[in-house]
Amino acid sequence: MADKKMILGMTLTSGYGNLAGSWRAPHVDPSNYANVEANIRYAQAAERGGFAFLFTPDFPAVRGDVETQAILNIMDPMMQLAAISQATSRIGFVATGSTTFQEPFNTARQFKTLDIMSHGRAGWNAVTTSDPAVAANYGQPVADRTVRYQRAHEAIQIVEALWGSWEADAWLKDQTSGRFLDASKLRPINLQGEHVASRGPLAIPPSEQGQPVIFTSGGPSPHLLELAGRYCSGFIAEVWTIEEARAQRETVRQAAQQAGRDPDDIKYIAGLMTTVAPTVREGLDRRLSLSGDIVEARLPHLGALLGLDIDPTRYDEPLTPDQLAAAHASPMDPRSGIALDVARQGWSPRDVLAHGTIDYHPTTVGPGQVHADHLQEWFEAGAVDGFWISPDVYEDGVDAFVDEVVPILRARGIYPTDYPGTTLRENLGVKPQYGLDPRIS
Ligand SMILES: Cc1cc2nc3c(=O)[nH]c(=O)nc-3n(C[C@H](O)[C@H](O)[C@H](O)COP(=O)(O)O)c2cc1C
Repeated sequence: MADKKMILGMTLTSGYGNLAGSWRAPHVDPSNYANVEANIRYAQAAERGGFAFLFTPDFPAVRGDVETQAILNIMDPMMQLAAISQATSRIGFVATGSTTFQEPFNTARQFKTLDIMSHGRAGWNAVTTSDPAVAANYGQPVADRTVRYQRAHEAIQIVEALWGSWEADAWLKDQTSGRFLDASKLRPINLQGEHVASRGPLAIPPSEQGQPVIFTSGGPSPHLLELAGRYCSGFIAEVWTIEEARAQRETVRQAAQQAGRDPDDIKYIAGLMTTVAPTVREGLDRRLSLSGDIVEARLPHLGALLGLDIDPTRYDEPLTPDQLAAAHASPMDPRSGIALDVARQGWSPRDVLAHGTIDYHPTTVGPGQVHADHLQEWFEAGAVDGFWISPDVYEDGVDAFVDEVVPILRARGIYPTDYPGTTLRENLGVKPQYGLDPRIS
């Protein structure tokens, strides 16, 4: 443990940040959704902080309240990451790509090209996509989970086989003899599945890291665990407590072991949303001013989570001692225990929600030390190998994290002082692999 260092990634969604009103912040250009230069700036800021990768979720559909909350997806992750790769030199790119709606040949070709263009910094977050709005854009219903995961196994095997179909020493480039390539080392793969197939080969040479690193993300269903255990070197998770993360990380590691791999071959990465501010109060105010009406809308739900009937005229006052004594966390929702802890610190219901207590991921608010303490506690408890950070507002939130949090992590000896290597694989501590993993039949 002493030598082990935490991995950090940063999510890149929209051009704005994780708060619903981040696009309306006075210091943010509201055109950033269509402004790749902004994403390049954020990537460069994250790279300054030694982040191992950017993570682009992908739900290619119009979802949620776009009337007021902007679009929660970058336009086309692969195209944008290709541009960002030319303006950065160390940070990696874990891009989401659907095993259901993309042909494996296209996936293999695009991701390996990004890997070459970025000198070995690409990763593929392979997801089966269960969102009906996305499915509709491809003219299909959402298939059964069993079918989606069967197809995912086939798709990943085909992609990996295609990546390995240009053998490492195939490219002769011998101008004297006139031999460009040893054609016997660029061979078809001839894989025919029930759902997808490809003949190959894929005419793309190895990158500096051989081939992209495969990730997946989601809840630990048996289907996803089997997939993660067999093929994935990274697992993007959504968990609220140390206990939940520790247990989930263990199941993911066991899945790798059951597939004949080493449990350390898969890095478990939990989410954290951050607001870095000089004080907790200033951070809460920033969040309240940029949350739109989300906090207001969630206030009745907070009472339900704590088993209390909270008078709406008292949303700005701390809970009374009687209320705190009567409150109990719902066993059905791990976020309710966090909300109760924050309420017990004396914060009003509105401020409890401003802490992000019932948001999509755990949230930390305040000066650098608050964030560093959370990261360190989870890391040292063996709950994670690293985190994917989602800043409140990219425009200043990435720099604030890099300037206020990263130095503390480094001073505590739990975060690398520089990039360990030049490729994503090296920076994650993931073993070399080219083509299919021979351990997986
Ligand atoms: C943090 C996180 C990020 C995710 N990102 C995406 C994504 O960008 N695109 C996507 O289709 N699914 C994403 N997923 C996966 C879906 O939630 C879900 O696992 C997938 O659609 C398959 O559903 P199923 O395994 O429940 O059938 C993500 C999951 C988590 C936990």
